Amino acid sequence: MNFKQAAGIQAAEAVASGMKVGLGTGSTVYYTILELGRRMKEEGLRFTGVPTSDATEKLALELGIPLAELSELEPLDVTIDGADEVTPELALIKGGGAAHFREKMVAAVSKRLVIVADESKAVGKLGAFTVPVEIAAYGWRSTARRVEAAGCRAVRRERDGQPVVTDNGNYVLDCDFGLIEEPGALDRELKGLLGVLETGLFVGMADAAYIAGPEGVRVLRR
Ligand code: A5P
Repeated sequence: MNFKQAAGIQAAEAVASGMKVGLGTGSTVYYTILELGRRMKEEGLRFTGVPTSDATEKLALELGIPLAELSELEPLDVTIDGADEVTPELALIKGGGAAHFREKMVAAVSKRLVIVADESKAVGKLGAFTVPVEIAAYGWRSTARRVEAAGCRAVRRERDGQPVVTDNGNYVLDCDFGLIEEPGALDRELKGLLGVLETGLFVGMADAAYIAGPEGVRVLRR
């Protein structure tokens, strides 16, 4: 079993029958979703999920997990999701998979946010991983200049020479701020800029993190 699998499977213990559950996006929470699907079939677990991306929606539907729209189901009992960086205080960078806008929307109306990650994601301070910032495609260069004026180098995310377009039809800037001393303040500053929809900085949102490494899975709590 690899580390992502170990963390993902163990964190599924946060879900009990009858719960309303936010389903995150990425290669670690993938294992959580598989485990929830297994418990549904083998142990009679009953829950309703809210997916944070089209990819997660597809996976959940393949597993037969009942799904609902966020607006129909909120507030949620728990959301389980991956992260690109996690500090000991449970500040996060998310958005490596460009799903951070919906992930933050779902996490914001969840009683608990549980993170799953392998040890490579555990950091002392955020910022080695560039901060994903979702911006409107319209006039994106002027938005990128505003973001850079906040103190970073911002690169529009591309794949095969084409801009990455999020599930919401927007672009993503990957922003190198260096190590970030005050992620909450930076998040607020970026959110105040015209054209910025959401950042991948999640501060004061996560309640627990299941982090797997060679020693097993450790659980950080806030
Ligand atoms: C999706 O946009 C991200 O926030 C993911 O949750 C994050 O990139 C973690 O993904 P992995 O578990 O695949 O590393």
